[in-house]
Amino acid sequence: MSTLNIAVLPGDGIGPEITEQAIAVLRRLESQGHFSLNLEDAPVGGAGYRAMGHPLPPETLALAKASDAILFGSVGDFSLDTLPRELRPEQAILGLRKDLELFANLRPAFVLPELVDASTLKAEIVSGMDILIIRELTGDVYFGKPRGIRHLENGDREGFDTMVYNESEIRRIGRVAFEAARKRGRRLCSVDKANVLETTQLWRNVMTELAGDYSDVELSHIYVDNAAMQLLKNPKQFDVMVTGNMFGDILSDEASMLTGSIGMLPSASLDANNKGLYEPIHGSAPDIAGQDKANPLATILSAAMMLRYSFGLESSALAIEQAVSKVLGLGYATADIQRPGAKMVGTQAMGAAVVEALG
Ligand code: IPM
Ligand code: MG
Repeated sequence: MSTLNIAVLPGDGIGPEITEQAIAVLRRLESQGHFSLNLEDAPVGGAGYRAMGHPLPPETLALAKASDAILFGSVGDFSLDTLPRELRPEQAILGLRKDLELFANLRPAFVLPELVDASTLKAEIVSGMDILIIRELTGDVYFGKPRGIRHLENGDREGFDTMVYNESEIRRIGRVAFEAARKRGRRLCSVDKANVLETTQLWRNVMTELAGDYSDVELSHIYVDNAAMQLLKNPKQFDVMVTGNMFGDILSDEASMLTGSIGMLPSASLDANNKGLYEPIHGSAPDIAGQDKANPLATILSAAMMLRYSFGLESSALAIEQAVSKVLGLGYATADIQRPGAKMVGTQAMGAAVVEALG
């Protein structure tokens, strides 16, 4: 039986309570003989700063590097927002992505039948929607240099960042996207702003060149502003979308809201060898932290993605996904996904229900 070496980085806010539930789910599968677990914890984000003076302490980074996969809660702590940028909690996740070269971010946005009415959009618009957003995660204006705030001779201050992508960065994320489309509906939509930005003109050119290697996948291109509109108008037109770091950040939040709750959606951030960091796409929700109110399902579903992508354990991943569907089918709901007739539960009871549903 394989041993899964997983670094657990719970982080801030609701991070610890939701990762605890995901671990309970993994432990149940372990007890059923799916695999054996070797879990190690380390502080990250605001918790890292408080414990060791840095959002990504060297020990935490070393543990993340030595593990086969990382289960990540969330980072963010308003009370630390006045620190210099390099010490703010968000730097932990940016540092992990960059240092571990986790360039491929997979963000599925799907509407489970049980939650159709949780969306703010009409049921007929979102019912059955199933999009995979693939966001490039280690380049673009997030990491481009130079960047800063400078003082001009006339006394004005000027803020500047650099949007930059080289051809190989675009090609490697493009390949991930074409491969993913192959395993799904074979339609790939590349999102850019090629009508204005040179960087994304190159993006479009490289995607078009790559299409030659994937004649079984239908490639289309869309400008990011139109993509934002089309996601609201008719989200079901999309299968796989691929885009850069900045546009992907924004569009994935938009897409998540179509599904009713950001509390449902998992994500995977992969390197070239499928080592990955798995995290819910929501944030640390400090307003409800420690109150047993957070929805643990996005983290539980992130653990399922981990089993699938980093460990190739498809049937274990499916077992978790089916258990989540079952629990929703039984009517269980945390506050963010409440609906008429639902059985309202807290974080722990929701996790326990999934464990129970695993049999
Ligand atoms: C995300 C988050 C991060 C990002 C923040 C926390 C730095 O919004 O994962 O989408 O901008 O990438
Ligand atoms: Mg974001």
